[in-house]
Amino acid sequence: MRTPIIAGNWKMNKTPAEAKALVEELKPLVKDASATVVVCVPAIDIPAVAEAVKGSNIKLGAENVHFKESGAYTGEISAAMLKECGVEYVIIGHSERRTYFGETDETVNLRVKAAVAAGLTPIICVGEHKEEREAGYTDALVTYQTLIALTGLTDGEVASAVIAYEPVWAIGTGLTATDEQANETIGVIRKAIAGKYGCEVAEKVRIQYGGSMNPKNVKGLMAQKEIDGGLIGGASLKAPDFSLVVNFDK
Ligand code: 13P
Repeated sequence: MRTPIIAGNWKMNKTPAEAKALVEELKPLVKDASATVVVCVPAIDIPAVAEAVKGSNIKLGAENVHFKESGAYTGEISAAMLKECGVEYVIIGHSERRTYFGETDETVNLRVKAAVAAGLTPIICVGEHKEEREAGYTDALVTYQTLIALTGLTDGEVASAVIAYEPVWAIGTGLTATDEQANETIGVIRKAIAGKYGCEVAEKVRIQYGGSMNPKNVKGLMAQKEIDGGLIGGASLKAPDFSLVVNFDK
């Protein structure tokens, strides 16, 4: 049995003071969650949120990490820096980074390796554009993105990684993949992992759905066999909404 994992991706929202206030509001609302609860926050908010989550069941995540250990990379943040600040999870390869910041499958893989080497759990994002789904390429694309991202990891490291299947056309649009579409594509991702790393590893990997997940559609999605959680954008910015998603089984 895989423990569900519900993670918020705040994207470029919340100042440190707003971040602290949101976490303080969230803490009592999610304290009895059976899922792993993570908030992935802007880098500048990390110290405030690290302090605010102390003693709670909320885990701290970052939204990106650089792949080098140190050096002349102005504006970037290393895995060791995140780790020292209390970060446990890091989103890697979000479609917004692929679209706006030149992220490629190769740099996603480099970031995943750097994160894992520093003891962070990567939340690796994969997913197709609308045109790719319509052309019938979804399965091939998510298989490729997943296998490239995981290249170079040991079986154990793959087993403890988190994958987020986020169809790009469903992000921030209010459009959600149907329960069946999400389940089917996540099944394809698990099968790809099984083909390369074996069934035992594939059965351990937690694979989330992301894309307009909210209090209304969470139950249907989470009832699907292959779906182990969610990566939540807009609905993670309000404590009552996020807590309803986190407590999907209550
Ligand atoms: P929305 O929930 O706002 O669609 O965002 C999803 C997402 O991109 C999470 O990483």
